[in-house]
Amino acid sequence: MARSFAQRMNGVHPSAIRDLMSLAADPEIISFGGGFPDPESFPSEAFAEILSEQMASHAKVALQYSASEGLPSLRSHIADLMGIDGIQCAADDVLVLQGAQQGLDLVAKLMIDPGDLIVTENPTFIGALVAFAPYQPRYAVAELDEDGVNTDDLERVLISNPGAKFIYTVPDFQNPTGVTMSLERRRRLLELAQIHDILILEDTPYRTLRYDGSSLPSLKSLDTTGRVIHLGSFSKMLAPALRLGWVIAPAEILRKLALLKLAADTQCSTLNMSVASAFLDEYDLTAHTRRSVQIHKTQRDLALETIQHTFPDTIDFSKPDGGLFIWLTFPKGFDAGKHLAEHAIPEDRVAYVPGAPFYSVLPEPNHARLSYAGKNPDDLVHGLTRLGESFHRAELGLRAIAK
Ligand SMILES: Cc1ncc(COP(=O)(O)O)c(C=O)c1O
Repeated sequence: MARSFAQRMNGVHPSAIRDLMSLAADPEIISFGGGFPDPESFPSEAFAEILSEQMASHAKVALQYSASEGLPSLRSHIADLMGIDGIQCAADDVLVLQGAQQGLDLVAKLMIDPGDLIVTENPTFIGALVAFAPYQPRYAVAELDEDGVNTDDLERVLISNPGAKFIYTVPDFQNPTGVTMSLERRRRLLELAQIHDILILEDTPYRTLRYDGSSLPSLKSLDTTGRVIHLGSFSKMLAPALRLGWVIAPAEILRKLALLKLAADTQCSTLNMSVASAFLDEYDLTAHTRRSVQIHKTQRDLALETIQHTFPDTIDFSKPDGGLFIWLTFPKGFDAGKHLAEHAIPEDRVAYVPGAPFYSVLPEPNHARLSYAGKNPDDLVHGLTRLGESFHRAELGLRAIAK
């Protein structure tokens, strides 16, 4: 029977990455394709104790429906965490979400009419493009460099696109590039947003995973004109399976997002919110974060060192101060997706994510994203060395293209 689906499904397509990654599911293949935190960093023992305590003493609350905005104790903990990070807010200013991903969906639902313009970094987080797609936006892009979004380029984009709905940015250890926006750029971004009267959607899931240098203020903490919608997440802070994140936004926006949250899923899991809240009550988040940072930093260091020694010098790579990702830039003309499908997976038994799908307007095939997270040292060194050899074999092509 022919179905006539809603028009909004026209822009919703299966991800090319998913198809490629299914080729890499073979356990013989060392895949740098995922973006998962190392499971060794999960607070599983603490969760075991908390869960047993919740079932023994608090089951009547933990297994019941609860407020759509989130468990009051968890909202209060999040407000405290935000306060420590420079964002002054109360528990009532926090809406608990099903991960930051739900924030991307709800903000899009709130703001985007078909054909509306969204400004993204170039490249940007593919999950945001997936979340925005059913709302049928158009995109304008501002280039990224090692200091985050290029604000001169952003200014050009804002001037030529009056009425754009919001700027979507991942200022800390961006997915996919790993780059962090400098303080100067953060200030300029806010200034430009004010001049052009546009909202900023700030997405910060990797913010606590900093390995070098000191934390830079979030856009929300620098925002004096109430134009930043700030998304946070427990996925990399505690564990992705909690599916817990949050949004802090100007009151009018937060109220509307809460209505959409109620319509979408009523509330987040009371049990998961109880576990997160009890963890923050009873355990030392700072010590937990320190341990998680150490685990991922070791992997980042080994990955960068191995890439430095084994990759052709025609390949440029980002050196992230935190987060989970390294971004590769090949000479123009090299197709990282083709190389993955024709050589890296079948011949070298290694995988990465091709960069093209991270572009909202013009795909650039000469990039790839690697994640070092969760790899043991052997797999990191052997996998990246094999990948380096694979790129070396393609290097004749690279050099020919580079000329
Ligand atoms: C930039 C970015 N935003 C949002 C998310 C979604 O995170 P969550 O697990 O909190 O939904 C991710 C996850 O990979 C991400 O990389």
